[in-house]
Order: sequence, then structure tokens, then C-alpha cells
Amino acid sequence: MKKLKWGMIGGGEGSQIGPAHRLGAQADGLFALTAAALDVNPEKGREYAQRLGCAADRAYGDWTEMLAGERGRDDRVDLVTVATPNSTHFEITKAFLEAGFNVLCEKPMTMTVEEGEEIVRVARASGRICAVNYCYSAYPMVREMRHMVASGQIGKVRLVITNFSHGHHGNAADADNPRVRWRYDPAMAGISGQFADCGIHALHMASFITGDEVRSLSADFASTIDSRTLEDDAMVNFRMEGGTVGRLWTSSVAIGRQHGFDIQVFGETGGMRWASEQPNQVYYTPVGGRTQIMEKGESGLSDEATRLSRVAIAHPEGFPLAVANIYVDLAAAIAGENRAALPSAADGLRSMAAVHAAVDSAGRGGVWVDARPTMFR
Ligand code: NAI
Repeated sequence: MKKLKWGMIGGGEGSQIGPAHRLGAQADGLFALTAAALDVNPEKGREYAQRLGCAADRAYGDWTEMLAGERGRDDRVDLVTVATPNSTHFEITKAFLEAGFNVLCEKPMTMTVEEGEEIVRVARASGRICAVNYCYSAYPMVREMRHMVASGQIGKVRLVITNFSHGHHGNAADADNPRVRWRYDPAMAGISGQFADCGIHALHMASFITGDEVRSLSADFASTIDSRTLEDDAMVNFRMEGGTVGRLWTSSVAIGRQHGFDIQVFGETGGMRWASEQPNQVYYTPVGGRTQIMEKGESGLSDEATRLSRVAIAHPEGFPLAVANIYVDLAAAIAGENRAALPSAADGLRSMAAVHAAVDSAGRGGVWVDARPTMFR
């Protein structure tokens, strides 16, 4: 099979998420990096793109140059990944969709609900794929949990408890570090800090595993370090359309928690839990029975968990290969196959509506508010 041509915007040398995309997109030989505008500094971006194998005329200085260069080519890129800082996602994603490119956008997809609605509209009108990188949903054992809920193995879901709480911004002496400070500055980060950064991964995961959507929420936000305007800690209670009770804690000041993303799902006939730091295992307990450890790669797992697992049982695959699973599904979707589990622009919009609802609720003493985008009510 011929490799698909892949373009990347942002994710330059030294960035946090860039390497995971490069490893992920190219892990299965499905995509080849062909065009790129990798860095906010045009010269650095051009130089790095060529070092990564892009031809000189496709190593662009910025995304507008890349759009102009690629749109006129017969051999234009098949997919563009947007891995720039949050405030740029909307205009880049919209412009590339309108020009007929498929896009994988980093989260959060936009800064406002209106922008999110616009991306959903533009993606629909263009007929192109617009995916959002909720990559944790592509771990094999997360797919297994989704399968277990869908096939009734834990009965109707009563409760979802999820945390995405780490301690990496917990040092008050480091709060002025420019790499940390912008995340809590509304001019750079928008209306939410930690909830928009990490909380939305957890909320997406709750929907992804249960197959249900968030309907309403009540939020309590705190800025525990004086110099911060936006929240560095949030507790969010939510209710899903089917009545499931949800509770979410997200924090960046939980010193000692490292990555800190985990989820527990409790149904009428069983419960299970998964954590990103031990992604190969799901702990499953049937009602009245013993706790079992289900292991990635063992026999008897769902087709979906088996399909997305590459190496033999007990070998860690980890974060870049979860991102690779997003690219596997993107390649299939570009080939015209239906990939329902691929996180979409609609998911990106739902997250943005939840962020704005949480800010509204937290600002009004935790009142319950509708968390759905108007478009989906
Ligand atoms: P970063 O600050 O480490 O790197 C950003 C990169 O984008 C840099 O190379 C910078 O030069 C480049 N850049 C900035 N503006 C640009 C522009 N206008 N055009 C081209 N390149 C530009 O940021 P990080 O942590 O890699 O985050 C990037 C995005 O990825 C954010 O939206 C973040 O929320 C998301 N992210 C997602 C994760 C996930 O689990 N899905 C994990 C980490 C980040």
C-alpha cells in the first residue's frame, strides 16, 4: 500500500506533543511526513522539517505558506495535524478544512463554543475528516472497557469517577516560569486553565467508555497559587443523558501524582478501573465475585482491543502507540471506512461547551448548568 502524505503544523523541535505525533503517524508505515510548518520561528521550522525528511519546497515557514503551497499541488498532503498552542487551533483547522484537507487537531479544538460549532459546520460542509486528538481513548484496554459496557458486561452504568490530577505546577516558586505561567493567564489560555487542559480528556473518556454524553454539571474551581487567575484545581460533578452519575477531579497542584489520569466505571453487575500509568491492565470485578486483572494481549479480548495491540502480552506499548492507533483509524477513515471510535469535531465541540458550562457554574457557586452545546440539544 502506498503511504499517505502527512503534513504537520506545530510540534517543532523540543515541543511536548510533537514527538508523539511523529512516532504515532509513522509507526505503522501508513503516513510519511511530507510537508510541515513546525515552529513559531519560520527558520527553525524550515530547517527541522528538512532534517525530518521534507523536501525543501515543502518545509514551510508558517501555516499560511503551507496552505498556499499545498492546496495547488496534485500530490497535496492527505492529512494535516495541528499541534500548535490552543489559541491557533481554530483558524488553522478551519482554513485547512475549507481548502479540502483532512485534519487532526490537538485538544482543545477551539477556545469558544461558537468556534467549535463553526468547525463542526465547516467539517460537515467540506465532507472532510476533522478528528480531535483524544488519544487516551485509543489505548487497547480502554477500547476493551468500551466494549464491555456496550456488550452489557457490567450492566447499566451507575457511576463514573475519573481523575486527571498531576502535581507538575504545584511549586509556587516556579509559578512565574514562562512555560507554566501562560496556562493560568486568560490572555493566553482562555477562560479555563486546568479543566480545559486536562479535565476535558477525563470528561471525553467518561463519554467514550460509557457511550453516553454529558448533559449537566456543577463545578468548583480553585486557584491555589496566589499569582494565578485561572483554576489549577477543579472538582466537577456531572450527569449523563442516561442518568449516570459522574465525578471528575482535575488538578495540577497534586504534588506526587505524576500523570494522574484514571477512570472507574461502576455498573449494576460489575465495576472496572483503568489508569494511564498502568495502561495494559483493567481491574474488573463482577458483582459478588473476585477482582480480576485483565491484561492487554491476552486471549479472549474484544476484536477492537486485539486490533490495536501490536506487541505480545506484558510488553508495554504506551502513549505514542495510543496516538498511533488514532492514525491507524484516520488512515482507514481516509480510505472511506467507518471508524466510529475516532474522536471527532463533535467531541471537540462538546468539550468546549463543558468548559464554558463549568466556568459558568463555578462562577455562580456551583449551580447546575446545561453542559451540552446548543447545536446538540
Ligand atoms: P509546546 O509549547 O511544547 O510546543 C508548541 C510547538 O508549536 C512549538 O514547537 C512551537 O514552536 C510551535 N508553534 C507555536 N505557534 C506556532 C504556529 N503559529 N505555527 C507553527 N508552529 C507553531 O506545546 P505542546 O505542549 O506540545 O502543546 C501543543 C498542543 O498539543 C496544545 O494544544 C496542547 O493542548 C496539546 N497537547 C495534547 C496532548 C494530548 O494528550 N493530546 C498532550 C500535550 C499537549
